[in-house]
Amino acid sequence: MGISLSSSIVIVFIFSLAFIILLYTERINLVSSTTPFNSCAKRGRRFDSIQGDDVNATTDDDNRLKSILDDRFIFDPDECNVSRGKWVYNRSFEPLYTDLSCPYLDRQVSCVKNGKNDTSYRKWEWELDGCILPRFDARVALEKIRGKRVMFVGDSLQRGQWQSFVCLVEFLIPKDQKSMRRGKVHSVFNIKDHNATIEFYWAPFLIESNTDLKIIGDPKKRILRVDSVEKHAKHWIGVDMLVFNTYVWWMTGSKLKSIWGSFENGEDGYEELDAPVAYRIALRTWANWVDSNIERNKTRVFFTTMSPTHQRSADWNNDGGIKCYNETEPVKKKGHWGSGSDKRIMSVVRSVVGRMKVPVTLINVTQLSEYRVEAHSSIYTELGGKLLTDKQKADPFKFADCIHWCLPGVPDTWNRILLANL
Ligand SMILES: *[C@@H]1O[C@H](CO)[C@@H](O)[C@H](O)[C@H]1NC(C)=O
Ligand SMILES: *[C@@H]1O[C@H](CO)[C@@H](O)[C@H](O)[C@H]1NC(C)=O
Ligand SMILES: *[C@@H]1O[C@H](CO)[C@@H](O)[C@H](O)[C@H]1NC(C)=O
Ligand SMILES: *[C@@H]1O[C@H](CO)[C@@H](O)[C@H](O)[C@H]1NC(C)=O
Ligand SMILES: *[C@@H]1O[C@H](CO)[C@@H](O)[C@H](O)[C@H]1NC(C)=O
Ligand SMILES: *[C@@H]1O[C@H](CO)[C@@H](O)[C@H](O)[C@H]1NC(C)=O
Ligand SMILES: *[C@@H]1O[C@H](CO)[C@@H](O)[C@H](O)[C@H]1NC(C)=O
Ligand SMILES: *[C@@H]1O[C@H](CO)[C@@H](O)[C@H](O)[C@H]1NC(C)=O
Repeated sequence: MGISLSSSIVIVFIFSLAFIILLYTERINLVSSTTPFNSCAKRGRRFDSIQGDDVNATTDDDNRLKSILDDRFIFDPDECNVSRGKWVYNRSFEPLYTDLSCPYLDRQVSCVKNGKNDTSYRKWEWELDGCILPRFDARVALEKIRGKRVMFVGDSLQRGQWQSFVCLVEFLIPKDQKSMRRGKVHSVFNIKDHNATIEFYWAPFLIESNTDLKIIGDPKKRILRVDSVEKHAKHWIGVDMLVFNTYVWWMTGSKLKSIWGSFENGEDGYEELDAPVAYRIALRTWANWVDSNIERNKTRVFFTTMSPTHQRSADWNNDGGIKCYNETEPVKKKGHWGSGSDKRIMSVVRSVVGRMKVPVTLINVTQLSEYRVEAHSSIYTELGGKLLTDKQKADPFKFADCIHWCLPGVPDTWNRILLANL
């Protein structure tokens, strides 16, 4: 019984090996006959430009070969939909950095350093249906930003994306060629030998509010100046690549005190608006500023869509769960969409960005991140500058962070998409 089982496995193995060899020789013949490439010229060209010059012809051909066998498009922003895909577990996959190797990560996102044992959350790769999303290539990224200022603007989720981007490239840069200056509002990672910076600008609502600098805990005391962006935006002038986001601060559950027009009434002249209404006015303010201040052929503008929160385990049918606490695997259900991603906000983004004069590239991370209930900081985080105590960790309902993402982690995939769009 044992023998026949193993011999049948061997037979199956030999057959599939033969099949693969057949496939390869078939394709190699195609490669040498040159003509079949015409139909995929677009794929080839796109891939060349992503790979840069330091990849030699041999590997290039290998990649072509792989891509033909695969029969999927090399990522092309016009052809590929980054929302359509699945998370694939790859035991051999290692991120380009860890929270121990990269010195620029905040404690908020350094989950393993903070005691998370299980690193399997790092082994999931986002695989698109019908397209190949190239892995983040640090060398290519550095070439793309040579001589440029890159700035991430937004909230703490955007700060995570910024730190991810910095860590994805910094290991290639000699110590004396890099420096980091952290500020409360504006932080700059400087790469001397590339004459480049990767910056972060804190503006959680993009527009002005009374809680930008000194954070006001009580949402009812926050006041948003929904038609006022200049105070922040003047710091965005001259940047070559701007990556914006704003979402989670709008989602306090209550109405948002908003003021606009003249400020003569002071902060008493506010009106209480539903989040999508206030969001629309604010995003239009931002869009008008971009349209009238950004030179479309000098500056690339990106917008990262909502980062989902995972506060309700019932959303993914884990009725006994406590938010995202103790989750160990991504949600499998195709198209899963939870209550932490507000469709009304998404539709505001779609309509406002869709009407802009300056082209804005959407980095639509919402669907792919929706699946990743297990990749949040959870209890492996900090509170008020201190690691959670054991007592706090034992109360995940109150203390688990199901908004921010561990790094390395999901925001690396956001940057993979960002780079593929450059
Ligand atoms: C191409 O790259 C491989 C591995 O990186 C190297 O071994 C080989 O010598 C290179 N070939 C050429 C022609 O540069
Ligand atoms: C991408 O796919 C998603 C999910 O299927 C869909 O909702 C969305 O409209 C698609 N986007 C585009 C630009 O086609
Ligand atoms: C898994 O990751 C390894 C290491 O990067 C890579 O060589 C391999 O191709 C990946 N497997 C799949 C199925 O993507
Ligand atoms: C972490 O791993 C160690 C050893 O593998 C184990 O003793 C410990 O209980 C684990 N901690 C948690 C929180 O799972
Ligand atoms: C460095 O980049 C800045 C723009 O970010 C540019 O103005 C300057 O000329 C560059 N310097 C060199 C030496 O390339
Ligand atoms: C920038 O774009 C404008 C119109 O969109 C065009 O007239 C101008 O020539 C472009 N400048 C450069 C340097 O490409
Ligand atoms: C969380 O997972 C740990 C380890 O698997 C387990 O011991 C604990 O009971 C779980 N806690 C809850 C509340 O499910
Ligand atoms: C982002 O993708 C989702 C589907 O995953 C889609 O419903 C939504 O419209 C997209 N957002 C924008 C702004 O295009």
